[in-house]
Amino acid sequence: MKTLYFTATGNSLYVAKSIGGELLSIPQMVKEGIYEFTDEKIGIVIPLHAWSVPPFIVDFLKKAMFNCDYLFAVITYGIYSGAVASHLTAIADEEGYKFSYISRIKMVDNYLPTFDMKKEVEKEGKKEIEHHLRSIISDISSSKEGTLKETVLDKAAMNYMLKRGNKPFNKKRLKVHAAGEGIDNYLYVEDSCIQCGVCASVCPVGNIRMDEKTGKIALDDRCFMCFACIHHCPSNAIHIRGEVNSIRFRNSHIRLNEIVKANNQM
Ligand SMILES: Cc1cc2nc3c(=O)[nH]c(=O)nc-3n(C[C@H](O)[C@H](O)[C@H](O)COP(=O)(O)O)c2cc1C
Repeated sequence: MKTLYFTATGNSLYVAKSIGGELLSIPQMVKEGIYEFTDEKIGIVIPLHAWSVPPFIVDFLKKAMFNCDYLFAVITYGIYSGAVASHLTAIADEEGYKFSYISRIKMVDNYLPTFDMKKEVEKEGKKEIEHHLRSIISDISSSKEGTLKETVLDKAAMNYMLKRGNKPFNKKRLKVHAAGEGIDNYLYVEDSCIQCGVCASVCPVGNIRMDEKTGKIALDDRCFMCFACIHHCPSNAIHIRGEVNSIRFRNSHIRLNEIVKANNQM
């Protein structure tokens, strides 16, 4: 079994590790130009962004070829998963493959623009993650087939988000453009930055570099707002304008070096 995953803060990596198989990081596959996978069972474990599949994963799934008898997807999310299964199914239909099984698991919501990470972590116990994880693992090992039931309203919500272009929401209604554009309006780096390079090494799209002139980090235009750079900054120097507070999150089972290994594009 091969388990492909993408993670910003470790939730999806924890789920992928728990499911098992040969773990393959999607950012590393993209970096190496590997898009064809062959095995009896193949799965993807990814976070949900904006009630749908994150754009970086959409691009990957559009290029991928899965040679297998059983293709599964597990989506990690925080509160509401919109119509993510319909989105995955539509991508697969377009590309000529089919998911045998799509499930989801509620975990800590890492969406910094609107949530207080301390409060989100406090809610973790109520989400009964281990219980749901055991049931998903059992489904996959018995090759259970099926997808999520999503309503017309879920689909309308997702389509609204897709049209909106994954722009972040927050209380101050900042003038922010679609992911990638005008990122400097949105993120800022404090002088406490020690230029350690962790932000660059956890960025799954290699969007962060050191600006030799200013000696500060600089962002290019490929950001799709996973917030890995912000959550893992050792000096807590990267911020979102209008964020609730400076508390950050990493899944308690996952170490920083695992995120670096998964996402590093350098
Ligand atoms: C840009 C962005 C958008 C998100 N949108 C949603 C959402 O619409 N609904 C939801 O329940 N969780 C949402 N989340 C929360 C993540 O899906 C959730 O925390 C996920 O488990 C993170 O996985 P990771 O640690 O593997 O990156 C969002 C997170 C980010 C960064």
